Amino acid sequence: MKSFAFVFSFAKGLKLRYTAAIVFIILAASFSFLNPLLIRFCIDTVLGGKAADMPFNLPVPSLSTIGFLRNNLWLAGLAIVVVSIFAHGFTYMRSRFSAQVAEEFARRLRNKLYDHIQKLPYAWHSKVQTGDIIQRCTSDVDTVRRFVALQFVQLGRSIFMVLLILPIMLTMNAKMTFYSTLVVPIVFVYAYVFFKQVRRRFKAQDEAEGYLTTTLEESISGIRIVKAFAREEFEINRFEKAALDYRNKCRGLVTLMAWYWASSDALCMLQIALVLIFGIRFTINGDITLGTLLAFSSYIGMLIWPVREMGRILTDMGRAQVSIGRLQEILDTPVESFDGIAHDNSHRIKGEIEFRELSFSYEGGSDILKDINLKIASGETIVILGATGSGKSTLTNLIPRLFDYSQGQILIDGIDLNSYDRQYLRKQIGIVLQEPFLYARSLQENIGIALQNVDVVKVQKAAAESALEETISEFEHGYETVIGERGITLSGGQRQRCAIARALVLNAPIIILDDALSAVDTETEETILNNLKRRKGRATTIIITHRLSSVTLADRIVVLEHGRIAQIGKHEDLINVPGVYQRIWSIQHKLEEEAG
Ligand SMILES: Nc1ncnc2c1ncn2[C@@H]1O[C@H](COP(=O)(O)OP(=O)(O)OP(=O)(O)O)[C@@H](O)[C@H]1O
Ligand SMILES: [Mg+2]
Repeated sequence: MKSFAFVFSFAKGLKLRYTAAIVFIILAASFSFLNPLLIRFCIDTVLGGKAADMPFNLPVPSLSTIGFLRNNLWLAGLAIVVVSIFAHGFTYMRSRFSAQVAEEFARRLRNKLYDHIQKLPYAWHSKVQTGDIIQRCTSDVDTVRRFVALQFVQLGRSIFMVLLILPIMLTMNAKMTFYSTLVVPIVFVYAYVFFKQVRRRFKAQDEAEGYLTTTLEESISGIRIVKAFAREEFEINRFEKAALDYRNKCRGLVTLMAWYWASSDALCMLQIALVLIFGIRFTINGDITLGTLLAFSSYIGMLIWPVREMGRILTDMGRAQVSIGRLQEILDTPVESFDGIAHDNSHRIKGEIEFRELSFSYEGGSDILKDINLKIASGETIVILGATGSGKSTLTNLIPRLFDYSQGQILIDGIDLNSYDRQYLRKQIGIVLQEPFLYARSLQENIGIALQNVDVVKVQKAAAESALEETISEFEHGYETVIGERGITLSGGQRQRCAIARALVLNAPIIILDDALSAVDTETEETILNNLKRRKGRATTIIITHRLSSVTLADRIVVLEHGRIAQIGKHEDLINVPGVYQRIWSIQHKLEEEAG
């Protein structure tokens, strides 16, 4: 029931069209019921000359009309054709309206999902599997769309057919109705039980398909690793195994379905045979007319197929329910809260950052950051050093509120971070994440992503500061060059510099560079560092690095060890006290001397 409520919450403003679809179902069904009655009337009354008995007290035609019809039999033929045209016309309208509603519904659902996913916290995104989310947004949405477009309508149609045919049959002959519907409940139960049983198999097939897709996706997006490690053979085997499993599951299901259709066909035939056997006997006995017999055999055809379909529809509805559940799971995940101080974006923060007794752990894990106390003055440049896994990225990712902390405090300009509106806050921070991502769009768009309107001058300035100008000038299309899947491939260092330009373009009061220079050569690094030096004092700058070249820029250096601040101070001071910094310094110097 909850799933129905979910579906209909997306149907605002569509109810009229959905009602129209339902009205057309009723009209189409009613018209398709008219034909057997017409045939019966033609055979019994027009040809057979029996007194007409119309069901539901329909008006009995006068004798002169019947005489006229007998001389103009084509009129009866025309009537049958006209009724058929109407019945099919209404069916067409029904499909049209229900498809319209379903497409619009699916569009709204997709938009809502996308909108929601965009607003979900960074923490959520960092733990979900992309493949799974894509599958939910595509195939699950499609299952629900089919439910709205087809199953719901078909079920309504089937129920309506049964409700309308039974009384028509009963008004014609009660005994005959009994024999005509004897096997119908068995068909229904058989269908229902069968599809309930195969539901597990459908699920297994879905899962096998999901696995196949994931395998494909993984090996294609990781193709460089596959090639580099000569793992083609292994990947091919893995894919073939997944494909084989999927085929086996499909084949099993198809065989089972073939068995079902054949066996339920037999049941249906049994019902038709019963109608004929008893019908012919009753006709010979004079209990029913020949026209009635024909009408019954038409109706039983109309009744038994939808009943047989009903089992399938009910199972498909079960599948739709599973899909709805999977979608609800996404939609029920709370989005990032955006409440807090949302200054006008033109209001620029000063950029003073203070960590007070801050501890942090990822969901359910142990403490990654422990008892951090650090005050960074506005305009100060801090370099953070530390072994891999010591918590450097974690510390800086807290500043734009990518993750929420619960112990201790972070203050910006003396105000608790949690009381800032995230959007506002993030617009005040230019950040290069450790694994920067570039879109398959133009360089200009990639660099200017944080700008409200792409501003060529700002983009070019940022590119120059990131030592990217020369590279770009070599491209035929300059800043319009499209990178990634549809365009040119950038080198690792070029990608990093793009990400730096993207962080600088805003001229934000806080700049964070997480390992942003690891892939550029020493010379380029120096150019960028010199550029940053020129900017010094204009923004609070945090640079995470493993190389000591950046420390020339630092006002202070922070050394992290196992989530704690191990050392803090100026280069000149730290170099003279025994500790991690001195150790790193001597190792790197030794290496440089050896290399030099
Ligand atoms: N999203 C996450 N969920 C759970 N644990 C995480 C997550 N990101 C990082 N960690 C864990 O937190 C610890 C610190 O990771 P972090 O990325 O902050 O290290 P780092 O100092 O930046 O290392 P590196 O120099 O390699 O970039 C690691 O043990 C890591 O396994
Ligand atoms: Mg890191």
